[in-house]
Amino acid sequence: MKKLCLVWCLIFGYSLLPAQPYDFGHPMPVGAYYYPEHWPEAQWDRDLGKMAELGFQFTHFGEFAWAMMEPEEGRFDFEWLDKAVGLADKHGLKVIMCTPTPTPPAWLTERHPEILTVNDQGLTQHHGSRLHVSYNHPTYRYYTERIVRELAERYGQDERIWGWQVDNEPHYGVLYDYSEGHERAFQDWLREKYSNVHSLNAAWGTVFWSQTYNHFEQVQIPNKNRAPQGANPHALLDFQRFNADELAEALRFQADLLKGLVDERQWVTTNYAYFKFLPSVDPFLNRDDFDFAAHTMYLTSGFLSDEGGPLAHRLGSGLELAFSQEFAESVNGYTGIMELQPGQINWGGINPQPLPGAVRMWGWHAFGLGDEFICTYRFRQPLFGGEQTHKGVMETDGVTVARGGKEYVQFMEELQQLSKNGDLKADATMPVALKTRKTAFYWEQDNLWSLGNQPHHSDWDSWAHHYTYYQNLKRLGAPVTFVSPGEAVDPEEYPFWVVPAAHMIDPAQVKIWEDYARAGGHLILSVRTGTKDNNSHIWEALLQEPIWNLIGARVEYYDHLPAKYPGQVSMGDNTYPWHIWGDVLTPMEGTTVLANHDSEYYKGAPAIVSRDLGAGSVTYTGVWSDNWELEYEVLRSVFGKAGAEMLNLPPYVFTEWRDGVYIAVNYSSKAVKAPVPDGAEVLLGGRQLEPGGVTVWRE
Ligand code: GAL
Repeated sequence: MKKLCLVWCLIFGYSLLPAQPYDFGHPMPVGAYYYPEHWPEAQWDRDLGKMAELGFQFTHFGEFAWAMMEPEEGRFDFEWLDKAVGLADKHGLKVIMCTPTPTPPAWLTERHPEILTVNDQGLTQHHGSRLHVSYNHPTYRYYTERIVRELAERYGQDERIWGWQVDNEPHYGVLYDYSEGHERAFQDWLREKYSNVHSLNAAWGTVFWSQTYNHFEQVQIPNKNRAPQGANPHALLDFQRFNADELAEALRFQADLLKGLVDERQWVTTNYAYFKFLPSVDPFLNRDDFDFAAHTMYLTSGFLSDEGGPLAHRLGSGLELAFSQEFAESVNGYTGIMELQPGQINWGGINPQPLPGAVRMWGWHAFGLGDEFICTYRFRQPLFGGEQTHKGVMETDGVTVARGGKEYVQFMEELQQLSKNGDLKADATMPVALKTRKTAFYWEQDNLWSLGNQPHHSDWDSWAHHYTYYQNLKRLGAPVTFVSPGEAVDPEEYPFWVVPAAHMIDPAQVKIWEDYARAGGHLILSVRTGTKDNNSHIWEALLQEPIWNLIGARVEYYDHLPAKYPGQVSMGDNTYPWHIWGDVLTPMEGTTVLANHDSEYYKGAPAIVSRDLGAGSVTYTGVWSDNWELEYEVLRSVFGKAGAEMLNLPPYVFTEWRDGVYIAVNYSSKAVKAPVPDGAEVLLGGRQLEPGGVTVWRE
């Protein structure tokens, strides 16, 4: 698959979403997690038979079953798994096989306690949970290699195995591992990066507060609990970079091992999770290792961004499902959702019942977003263990289909019906209207770390800042692709490129942005962009000076306000409140002012500017509005001027296009009019979209 893509790229030029996906099957297979080890063997046949009867097409085994696979050191037992695979096959279910590395058996950590992680309080984790080991510890590597090899040799040529998942939602349970072994590994990473300690001292500015190091062995993992006046921000950033590299390396190790042993027809992935909460992981680092990056999403955890209305807790966060899908898809050009809840979960803040219809809506939304498959978590509700009250497709008796299970059945039947009717066409080409609003979104994990280390206002939340733009792009109906620093974007393919708060940059990146605009692209940059270099040092220049020529304005200074005394910015006839970040700008000749401050001692000063550059334009939004509405107007103005065909959706209502049909879903607490044009043929649902509703139509 990778080779195919390489040849394609060489002949036809590079595209941001180049990979041709495996043929996952049309319209889209749906599967369910099953843990044979949780149930009496006598029930497996019945359960897997039921799964198939309900319409599921694949299942998922093994990611936590190390103690079953290797009950004693070096003694492997796969007979039980062979039986389960055989029964899945008997019922026509393909199997996703997983490596069990998040849960080492007790004999392993008993014999090698040195592989256990240590949290930021200095507490060593112990057996009895999961994700409590240092992935790259040489001892853990040794045992990892052995179990993965055994599995791959047993199932790597087995046609019943569809693909592989490495580990599970890779991250450290303690977020960052502060163990001695990890500290030594960090020192090695620094030695490799800086060659000598003087370079490290310069990059970390250690002369500040007399932090100068004499040798690498003195460097400790920065830990806020041991740094009374705050840890060195450059040390923190490097530790975050090291941690992500190191996790990527652990995943690469398993991916390479599998790739070397399994048949080409079996794909290899991992299921990345909660991008917002696991900033220690950067999926783009494994872009060349996995065939694709799968993702997981639990919409009603209560920790995610939602509309906040009276039904939001039941409908969940459509914004985060959309983000998760488009982000994971951007890594290799296609993705699938490996975990999607079929009902109430157990580990959220409140764990409400989903609104009747919401489970079905999530399925349709994931389909619309382009997931190649959906795997629901999980088929049966567990009767014991840490997730007892997590709903499954089936009720606790194992034979009654739960409400969410019924909604899955409904969704799968609707999908099959549309497919049978010939309404879903795998080879449909994207309508021109959508192409006019395709948007690239600048994404740099380092930037998020660095902003998070020095937020500058207690309400600054880098994710919320990114979501301000992401959500507004979705309101316009824009398909979004995330791009990494250094990647060029073709304005023909992506007429718009949004760059939120990219505060660490280098001149090469500014040149890429400038070339994009000159070639006809429309660039939208926001506050803080260009403040620092890649070591997170402020430029020895005036504030954001490296981007002045690009944006056609000077950034004079920025201000922050308390939430209870917000400032005002006017654009057109409207004013918008803000309190977290506001820049005061001086435009250069030829630059247009889009919005001005309407309060504070700098009332009247420009806050948002735009200029033409070559065949394109550059807009700089020097304020972050409190209700995200100002950003919506800015995007509308830039899209409108560029001639894009856009939608005008209420927040938390989403419209996607796939296989020749449009799909609208409503996560807001109010009924809305579905954005179905007159004359369009409605295939499912109606022109009125209730909360939790789905409308599918063809234009
Ligand atoms: C996921 C995790 C699963 C399971 C699930 C429960 O985050 O990957 O193993 O714990 O949550 O909702």
